[in-house]
Amino acid sequence: MGLEPVSAIGTDTTDIAMAVKENDFKKCDQSGFCKRNRAYADRAAANGALWTSPYNILPESAAFENGQFRAIILKTTNNKGDSVRLPITVSFTEAGVARVTIDEERRQNKDIELRHNSAARKERYNEAEQLVIVGGLTLDKTAKVVSEEGDTSTTVQYGLDGQFEASIHFSPFKVDFKRDGATEITFNNRGLFNMEHWRPQGAAAETKEGEAAPAPTAEEDTWWEESFGGNTDSKPRGPESVGLDISFVGYEHVYGIPLHAGPLSLKETRGGDGNYAEPYRMYNLDVFEYILDSPMTLYGSIPFMQAHRQDSTVGVFWLNAAETWVDITKEKIRSNPLALGAGAETDTKTHWISESGLLDVFVFLGPTTQDVLKKYGELTGYTAMPQESAIGYHQCRWNYVSDDDVKDVDRKMDKFNIPYDVIWLDIEYTDGKKYFTWDADKFIDPAGMGKRLDEHGRKLVVIIDPHIKNSDDYAVVSQLKSKEFGVKKKDGGLFDGWCWPGSSHWIDAFNPKAVEWWKTLFKYDAFKGTAENTFIWNDMNEPSVFNGPETTMPKDNLHHGGWEHRDVHNLNGMTFHNATHMALMSRKSGELRRPFVLTRSFFAGSQRLGAMWTGDNQASWDHLAASVPMLLSQGIAGFPFSGADVGGFFGDPDKELQTRWFQAGVFYPFFRGHAHIDSRRREPYLAGEPYTAIITAALRLRYSLLPAYYTAFHRAHVAGEPIIKPMYYTHPNAEGGFAIDDQFFVGNTGLLAKPVQAEGHTSVGMFIPDHEVYYDYFDYSIVPTQPGKRTHMPAPLETIPLLMRGGHIFPRRDQPRRSSQLMKYDDYTLVVTMPRTGSHAEGSLYVDDGDSYDYEQGQYIHQLFVLDGDTISSTRADGSSPPKKAGAWLKAMADVYVDKIVVVGAPSTWAGRISVTATSGGETWTAPLDYTPAIGGRAAFAVVRHLRARAGADWQVSIV
Ligand code: NOJ
Repeated sequence: MGLEPVSAIGTDTTDIAMAVKENDFKKCDQSGFCKRNRAYADRAAANGALWTSPYNILPESAAFENGQFRAIILKTTNNKGDSVRLPITVSFTEAGVARVTIDEERRQNKDIELRHNSAARKERYNEAEQLVIVGGLTLDKTAKVVSEEGDTSTTVQYGLDGQFEASIHFSPFKVDFKRDGATEITFNNRGLFNMEHWRPQGAAAETKEGEAAPAPTAEEDTWWEESFGGNTDSKPRGPESVGLDISFVGYEHVYGIPLHAGPLSLKETRGGDGNYAEPYRMYNLDVFEYILDSPMTLYGSIPFMQAHRQDSTVGVFWLNAAETWVDITKEKIRSNPLALGAGAETDTKTHWISESGLLDVFVFLGPTTQDVLKKYGELTGYTAMPQESAIGYHQCRWNYVSDDDVKDVDRKMDKFNIPYDVIWLDIEYTDGKKYFTWDADKFIDPAGMGKRLDEHGRKLVVIIDPHIKNSDDYAVVSQLKSKEFGVKKKDGGLFDGWCWPGSSHWIDAFNPKAVEWWKTLFKYDAFKGTAENTFIWNDMNEPSVFNGPETTMPKDNLHHGGWEHRDVHNLNGMTFHNATHMALMSRKSGELRRPFVLTRSFFAGSQRLGAMWTGDNQASWDHLAASVPMLLSQGIAGFPFSGADVGGFFGDPDKELQTRWFQAGVFYPFFRGHAHIDSRRREPYLAGEPYTAIITAALRLRYSLLPAYYTAFHRAHVAGEPIIKPMYYTHPNAEGGFAIDDQFFVGNTGLLAKPVQAEGHTSVGMFIPDHEVYYDYFDYSIVPTQPGKRTHMPAPLETIPLLMRGGHIFPRRDQPRRSSQLMKYDDYTLVVTMPRTGSHAEGSLYVDDGDSYDYEQGQYIHQLFVLDGDTISSTRADGSSPPKKAGAWLKAMADVYVDKIVVVGAPSTWAGRISVTATSGGETWTAPLDYTPAIGGRAAFAVVRHLRARAGADWQVSIV
């Protein structure tokens, strides 16, 4: 949400579609460094074989020691043979990840002094690692040089069993990454590596970039200053971009680099039928009313990409926080004869371009998506275990206008028996947009409101944005000014700009002292009216600056340590999110509770801090459909705790759309209904029948599946798995599924969902990726399927197309209640789905107190369930022993049981059985079994009732 005053924003969706501000945001040729690097690529392509990259490794500088290759790359900068020295390090980690870092050697040359910005740092930004990387950097001491071809190349073998190799070629500089002897990824194979070196202003354009013609002087126009939309960026350090071509050899699909409103399988970007003409852009911006099927940038960025073909996934992580563009082209050439499998006839060629900073790229050679994500997570961190209520339903709008309004919504949700966990307050709760204050006329008793919510285990989320109102009567701004914790202008003065409160300053959360100060503002006695059940929403943290270039901060602003905003822009949102996350951890001494903080802006690593959502979407069918690939992309980019505004932010959904959106939203990892201030009220109970009942049923489905969702979050937390998974992730060999992004599996449950995403549709075609049997979730019918083909599924309004894949076991809680907290100690049901052949099924349950960090001390239950033949067993999943002393939560869980087991597709040999024998800890007992034979298309099923097998204990149930 940006410049318009609230009243100017229409509520009619057609108006909104017309209002898209595409031209308010840069295209590549309006961004000097992007244009220059694209032109460089064009010159390289035009010169074909004659093109030579001017970057060469100095052979005598090359050395390999302790898992690292080091050398100097010489960049020839003109036809007199002048050169610039670029130190390169290629590091090999114990996890089998390669990292290529290229810097520019600092020169003592007063010509290169900055022109007018003495406060700005004079080296390339090199602190992204400190904020992003949390582990996984231990070097592989067993990595070794396996071939050194004189002055021409060094090949290093690394990874488990020496499976990987990096061949570093010297002249020109180029690296080939190989797995089992076959090249998977190349760097600078097309000669597009380009590090615009520092130079004095007025220096002549380079005349020998490769064998190319002299750079046209037009290129220099944007070296030292650049304007867009009436704003001028003074560029004290001149041109300093970094570009590199990265090719995925034999890979047809690439995924990742969110956030973009487009398909999961990324499109080509150099024009042509069905392709984009613009590169994918990553420059976190408040692109409100965003358009769909576009490579335009949005609110957050994760410069992490995976390439996939049958049986193989590889990836790269481009650690650079500056504005970044990525061009993608595909070429149908069988250039990798060793690569097998469909899709291997195509190379995907990418060209990465960042405005400033180091070249710092991590390479993952798979071979599975799981491997790539696990290693990416070791580096950048895994999803934090969420507050349990945070994975329930969140009821939000801009705005609930008073504490009475909040209590009224809360009461009505109860009255209609609609489950929800969290109610939200947008900016209007404040006194004149001064965060940490309340509008005293409307929120008369915030503490009472919080208390009332707490009685039903419900939470409150309030918004806190990074812009601090510049007003005389506001202690927060006085402190920010006196302590000098704000972002500064290029001349060192405090930056002021325009946002919701009018004139504002921005906290510089790159400054650790500012973070310490921020923490004090959230103490219960500082932020009066908040309590343990208050959590936080961070919005506008790209940052959104209404009167700034492209609605953000000038690039020549200065942050802590003297770094220019251009260097750190994409990290800005994460530093603010981090400050708030830290603040919630220290509201009261001795209180160790998991924070919940939603952020709009994010970067690689933000997954450690909370959830994100896809910003200001619209109440339209195409925005509903767009949400699914967007969230799938988030999941495979390591930040799965994601959602889209259910119902659509702008405009008013009709009832069919609202209902369908809830049916999709129940699967979003972060599930929140939200609406613009000018939209009509749309709490689910207002929809009227049959809609309210259908929405309530959908919500109950989510609530019954919370144990499965929480277990999936645990997989994200320990292994980087997505919560909802695309077909290529779960079925890496099913080629027909590689571009499918409108359906997904939920965790490891085997639940395959394809919510209806189009108006008036009463059926969907669901892609079936394998030979397994699939049962309808609701009526247990066996769905007629053909692997690799779509199955027609009827889906009248009250139906969500949801299948259960054979061979899985997942936990549910079937007693409908009004919030997740009220279900905390309910018994579990296990659903077991018999596979097509054999009788083996597996699944798990992970649960902890959903609130504290006691799970780190073993206070959790994690059971693996296995069906083998006629026996179902539950055993501790991670091989560890339960903690010596159970805490209060674990003690209470001693009375929580797996009380029911439903076996769908139960074998006919079970017919006539009326009981099962259960054993646990030396005790044996029986429980009743009902067997219902197959009829028509419906599978046979068996139900074990009143089992009373402890959820946290090992047990066995025998059906014979
Ligand atoms: C922009 C956010 O994207 C939106 O969700 C919020 O309602 C408005 N800001 C007002 O805070």
